[in-house]
Amino acid sequence: MKIEYGMALWEGIPCLQVSQKRLEEFTPKLWKAQEWLEDLCNKGEVGFMDLPFQDPAYIVELGEKVRDRSQHFVLIGIGGSSLGAETLFHALKGPRHNDHPHRDGPTFHVLDNVDPVKTAEILSSIDPGKTCFCVVSKSGSTAESMANFLVSLELVEKTVGRDKAREQIIFITDPEKGSLRELAREEGYRALEVPPNVGGRFSVLSAVGLFPAAVLGLDVKALLAGAARALEACKTRDPETNPAWVIAGLHYLHNTLEGRSISVMMAYHERLATFTDWYRQLWAESLGKEGKGQTPVKAVGTVDQHSQIQLYNDGPKDKIITFLQVERFARDVRIPPLYQDRPALSYLGGHTLGELLNSELVGTASALAKKGVPSLVVTLPRVDEEVMGKLFMVYEMATALSGYLYGINPFDQPGVEEGKRLTYGLMGREGFQEKGREAREIWEKRRGARVSL
Ligand code: PA5
Repeated sequence: MKIEYGMALWEGIPCLQVSQKRLEEFTPKLWKAQEWLEDLCNKGEVGFMDLPFQDPAYIVELGEKVRDRSQHFVLIGIGGSSLGAETLFHALKGPRHNDHPHRDGPTFHVLDNVDPVKTAEILSSIDPGKTCFCVVSKSGSTAESMANFLVSLELVEKTVGRDKAREQIIFITDPEKGSLRELAREEGYRALEVPPNVGGRFSVLSAVGLFPAAVLGLDVKALLAGAARALEACKTRDPETNPAWVIAGLHYLHNTLEGRSISVMMAYHERLATFTDWYRQLWAESLGKEGKGQTPVKAVGTVDQHSQIQLYNDGPKDKIITFLQVERFARDVRIPPLYQDRPALSYLGGHTLGELLNSELVGTASALAKKGVPSLVVTLPRVDEEVMGKLFMVYEMATALSGYLYGINPFDQPGVEEGKRLTYGLMGREGFQEKGREAREIWEKRRGARVSL
């Protein structure tokens, strides 16, 4: 994985960019951030940096068993409990996996939202008796995941009976606390662990991402090896080669010195579109606190060139763009040299779609540079398990370090928790009646700001 920024794109272009020199001057602060993070890790308060070194044998073994026995795999979870696995699925299997005539392993579905149409459609497309349901919730109480669990449980029990149903359901949750852990203890559900010191959005390299990866037949060891390698690079004390420092430093400086409050991640490979969803959650939920943070925006090249780029070029100067570039695609398509007498078509012949995609990236980045919009290019040699492991770890490190730079705690999510409590109250959960009243009262007061069609 290579990261480019600064002068290569900027030379000779007058704009308010953060130069390499400025980033170097900023190095002592990045170094302090690094020490702070390593200290938290050494004290056992933060655990995501330990994950690359775990022994995944049990997780892989269980995943392979499920893979052999199941026709369908339904992941129930939301936010940090689903996005990592979904990213791996899309990046390494592709969104058309389920329809593939020679598909190996079960179909893969995610019940994250409680959109009734989505849940009904997914559950009616599978054979419940031949499905593994994996319920992922660290807290064991998130309303969406618990609701989708109950709906699925009733369906499986009706199909195969109570005892068999328990064999088809696997929990991934806190080792001690929460309702899923209690159920696992009391009713014998199988359960894997989310380490207590690993938060949802930092958990993709724990059982939360590794178990679904094993069910999909992915190379879990390569994923962890990639993450371990990236971690090594993220520990070097060099602002030019430490990828987490480059990402954290540039975003922080552009945000605080130039007011660039939006971080766009534009993936020039559709298989990485879900990675930008994962990044969006990680960046937003970790850093959006105490009036600070940057709004992460998802974009896909080249599609969003025809939708967003006008705004990025000529709109408010409030963005920093990250381009995700892939050097070698798993497949490429040659463009045939037809209509050689027509200049609008003939120049394409003999090139490949991959070449065109990457030329569009360079063209777009250059056009933005001319307008003084800062960007950074993250180049991936290919998309495989090892590279995905690197990508996850680099962004987790950059996010954690950014927390220190902003002076906020990147590992909590008080804003999410409050929304959860208000929903519990509205849905009548015991102990949350007061929260329910509060939510109804606020809702009533905002009548004027509602439009009904
Ligand atoms: O990153 C986080 O902590 C959150 O996005 C959680 O993953 C999400 O709210 C789901 O929580 P839980 O795993 O407790 O169901």
